[in-house]
Amino acid sequence: MVARVIPVETFDLVIFGATGDLARRKILPGLYRRRKEGQIPEGAKIIGAARSNLTIQEFREQVAAALKEFVGPAALDASLVTDFLDSLAYVTIDAKGTGGWDDLAAQIRPGVVRAFYFSVAPALFGDIAQRLHQRGIADRASRIVVEKPFGKDLETARTLNAALATYFHEDQIYRIDHYLGKETVQNLMAVRFANILFEPLWNAQFVDHVQITVAETVGVGGRGDYYDTSGAMRDMVQNHMMQLLCLIAMEPPHCFEPDAMRDEKLKVIRALDPLKPGEFVRGQYRSEGADDYLVEADNPNSRTESFIAMKLHVSNWRWKGTPFYLRTGKRMKARASEIAVTFKEPPHSIFGESNQWRENVLVIRLQPDEGMDLRVMIKEPGPGGMRLKDVALDMSFAEALGNDVDIPDAYERLIMDVIRGNQTLFMRGDEVEAAWAWVDPVIDGWEQREDAPEPYEPGSTGPEGALMLMHRDGRRWREIRNGTA
Ligand code: BG6
Repeated sequence: MVARVIPVETFDLVIFGATGDLARRKILPGLYRRRKEGQIPEGAKIIGAARSNLTIQEFREQVAAALKEFVGPAALDASLVTDFLDSLAYVTIDAKGTGGWDDLAAQIRPGVVRAFYFSVAPALFGDIAQRLHQRGIADRASRIVVEKPFGKDLETARTLNAALATYFHEDQIYRIDHYLGKETVQNLMAVRFANILFEPLWNAQFVDHVQITVAETVGVGGRGDYYDTSGAMRDMVQNHMMQLLCLIAMEPPHCFEPDAMRDEKLKVIRALDPLKPGEFVRGQYRSEGADDYLVEADNPNSRTESFIAMKLHVSNWRWKGTPFYLRTGKRMKARASEIAVTFKEPPHSIFGESNQWRENVLVIRLQPDEGMDLRVMIKEPGPGGMRLKDVALDMSFAEALGNDVDIPDAYERLIMDVIRGNQTLFMRGDEVEAAWAWVDPVIDGWEQREDAPEPYEPGSTGPEGALMLMHRDGRRWREIRNGTA
């Protein structure tokens, strides 16, 4: 099955930080792939802007190398690559000064969609926004795209929001959370709101608990400097995990429109009870070898968590009494992200004590091997009485849709949404602030108490304390396995 591709309008896209890691790994390869799929029209122009004093030829060579490394040989078509490189322009720019802004203004064309991607440190957001506005490079219809980290606490997030709001309206600001661009994350909404099957059961009366796991095998590697001042709570929970929780817990919006969606997500964040000590466990991977967090972060005294598990309560009519358990960590046993909704026991068993009842679980696998799995009880085949067994109704999306379906990377989809002017999968300013408002007191608490994270072995499922968090409630975490339920 081949996905339907609807071309976007012609645009000028300026990428600030065009020589940086994100541009090389995600943005430029993503744009190439969309061009290859026919979604980007020929007249579209991509303008790289960065501090480095490069000629256009040097910039094109850098981009060619990035495509080679990150697009994959099957999708690299020599003549398309040439076309793509020809559509690039480059401007050396001083984000905080005056250099390069006239050159940039000269590159921008009237009458096409204008988008500005701030793939730079958040400290530069305000300066760039100001110059775009004051020099008339951005107009009322222009869009700006900003990356995480969007602040490191509520105060810094508010400052960033205010800096952007000085020059741009909220409907022009696209705050990226790349998890919202993932195909299966959007599938969560389809599962819930395009089927009658689950929604009637989707509440505290029928759901025992929900588990959200995002496990990674990578360590903090070359990002130690950033990560050590961030930790799993700021790096993964405040944004990605919170968004997953919102999509699972929110009320059905009246339509799939940006503000309808974002209003409902915001209500979930606001309904979260404050997290108390005892409801979370922080971990740090430790080893005698090179895969030791302290070595990778180059900070022998670090108390930063590379893992966190927590038990959340959404205090509203729908969810009162159903805990949401979240965990995420680096250097874990496998790369596996999934959401598991565990349903309650039937009110009465007609099959007697000898049949051990197992709970119904709906598992939505986000990555890898995106799919869904519903565990149900059936009769064990054969004579010998009514013995029950739980089996998985397992569906891999790749198989169900035909293996040739090409799932675009989250960034590809999100950039195309920017050009289309659709903010549904982007975070609104108040959502980001609400998430920080919930996260901040938790971090303040452990910083004041000088809590040390609990060590766990690289390649494990996290610290012992995380298992206990569940055991105390008579529940257990699902196994972390590569792409399997
Ligand atoms: C990023 C975090 O936002 O998301 C990284 O900064 C993390 O630490 C990454 O590894 C995970 O994204 P994905 O798409 O690989 O699940």
